Amino acid sequence: MKIAIIGTGNVGGALATAWAKAGHQILLGVRDTQHFKGAELLQNPGTSVHSIAEAAQLAEVILVATPPQIAENMSLVFGDATGKIIIDSTNSVRAKPENYPTAFHAFEALTHAEVVKCFNSTGFENMTNPDYGHTRLDMFMAGNSLGAKQVAAKLASDAGFENCYDFGGSDKVELLEKFALSWINLAIMQGHGRDIGFKVVRR
Ligand SMILES: NC(=O)c1ccc[n+]([C@@H]2O[C@H](COP(=O)([O-])OP(=O)(O)OC[C@H]3O[C@@H](n4cnc5c(N)ncnc54)[C@H](OP(=O)(O)O)[C@@H]3O)[C@@H](O)[C@H]2O)c1
Repeated sequence: MKIAIIGTGNVGGALATAWAKAGHQILLGVRDTQHFKGAELLQNPGTSVHSIAEAAQLAEVILVATPPQIAENMSLVFGDATGKIIIDSTNSVRAKPENYPTAFHAFEALTHAEVVKCFNSTGFENMTNPDYGHTRLDMFMAGNSLGAKQVAAKLASDAGFENCYDFGGSDKVELLEKFALSWINLAIMQGHGRDIGFKVVRR
């Protein structure tokens, strides 16, 4: 797939590398193509750099891994996103879009894309490597678009996650952000460290 990575920092960089290794074409969408965080990602196979608008226009799938509050402006920059899939990995921890509870809700309201919340519920180190030896971590997603969720689940598998659990529709997106806050609480506030992750077990 052709995947635009908007936000080439911790999360965008981890997933750009995982998906490039899995054989996807990666289009880094950045504000300044001469100077940007994650320039080393250009050494990955099948990876090129573009303006944000160009990357979004050329891609089938757009990963957003930026601060959430820029989602309303970003929707304008994306232009006509009909037929595209937007994966929102942001968390409204410190800030949120002015008129929406999460970036997901802004993208759902302001673009014609199919939108899914995914890759928000664990630390970027786990997106680089979800393998814990005896088991692989699970990923979680939410949103009303079944097509977008199918693509997100495939990309979670391509990044090495064992299962991608469906949290439910768009009404579950804020719950999925709270789930991410639960990881942040355990890892950082409660001091368990960033090498922990969520796994559904069954008997
Ligand atoms: N860190 C984690 O472990 C983690 C895990 C799950 C979810 N998240 C969520 O993922 C998002 C990104 O987190 P991160 O840790 O990857 O952040 P980060 O390393 O600081 O990277 C943020 C990226 O967003 C870009 N950006 C910032 N403002 C922008 C703007 N106005 N327009 C275009 N691009 C802009 C930055 O580009 P410049 O270099 O040009 O500033 C940078 O590439 C956040 O919403 C966070 O809550 C983070």
